[in-house]
Amino acid sequence: MSEKIHNPPPNLTKEQITAAVTSLHKGDVIAFPTETVYGLGADISYPHAIRKIFDIKGRPPDHPLIVHFAKLAELEFWAENIPETALILAKHFWPGPLTLILPKSKHIPLSVTGGQDTVGLRIPRHPIALRLLEELGSYKAVAAPSANRFGFVSPTSADHVRKEFGSSINVILDGGACEIGLESTIVSCINREVTILRPGGIQVLSIEKVLKQKVLVRSHNSSIRAPGSLTSHYATTTPLKICQSESLLSHSFILLQRGIRTAVILRSIHRGFGQDSSDKLHYVFMPNDPVEFGKDLYATLRKLDNENYQQILVEAPPDNLEWLAVADRLNRASHFHK
Ligand code: TXA
Ligand code: MG
Repeated sequence: MSEKIHNPPPNLTKEQITAAVTSLHKGDVIAFPTETVYGLGADISYPHAIRKIFDIKGRPPDHPLIVHFAKLAELEFWAENIPETALILAKHFWPGPLTLILPKSKHIPLSVTGGQDTVGLRIPRHPIALRLLEELGSYKAVAAPSANRFGFVSPTSADHVRKEFGSSINVILDGGACEIGLESTIVSCINREVTILRPGGIQVLSIEKVLKQKVLVRSHNSSIRAPGSLTSHYATTTPLKICQSESLLSHSFILLQRGIRTAVILRSIHRGFGQDSSDKLHYVFMPNDPVEFGKDLYATLRKLDNENYQQILVEAPPDNLEWLAVADRLNRASHFHK
């Protein structure tokens, strides 16, 4: 099963937060927890720190970063021509797992937005992230992508970040396991249209309810530039395949017969083929609830990726809006190996 992720965050000392703020003020890159996933953060006013984020992640320089800040009152400092819909969403969902794409103000460097004139903005709600941003100071902001190598699975614990980047980052703030476990929902509010660019921590239906209108959900092959929406992303190094519930057990049996060491992630099926003496098949029973499944997903994938399976099989999620974020991440992870 996935590692335990419901522990309360260990309390960080004031000194640890202050040390992280000092690092940001010096132009260093740090790792910190958010309610969605851990981020690799740098103060946006240091061009070399922004460059370092791209270097550490191995991310192409034209892929924009999300800018995190602490106070809603500063929204108009970071963005321009903010439509009413964006204000409604910001007031309702911030602090929280929502990123708004808006026309950028002159205070946002082009290096952060990958040369685009729009910016992704978010006020996170994790107490450590908020404290960090507040202590950094007014009209200061932190650019932070997920703290993983470009294209691979995002980190939901400090330990994930340590294993991936321990030697290249001096400060990793440990806020325990992430409450949500999937990235923020990205909503573009450009050209008077509200479009979901990446499903995530906030449900599409919640956004429609607050706006009292239907919103567009971006299709996979749109030309909008957003790396989290590349067809292959969030990938495991072990090949991952999605299988419909009806054929999952027969498919895993075929792999077993071929001697392929396989991990099978089940959701609605509560049994496997029983104990397999050759130890070639391993069953992982995940919660059959989109929020709980999403919370455990990345930790489970990372754990299985370290256990030398030749194949990961996942029971397909239901085809509905509640499961959209989970389905999106699984689809992208599976495309990586096609
Ligand atoms: O939950 C999250 O959003 C986490 C935490 C750390 O806040 N961050 C995160 O960042 O997932 P990253 O860099 O891994 O993914 C950010 C996504 C990318 O798909 C990026 O292309 C998109 O946001 N993005 C950022 N600015 C954009 C813009 N101006 N237009 C379109 N997409 C943008
Ligand atoms: Mg990412």
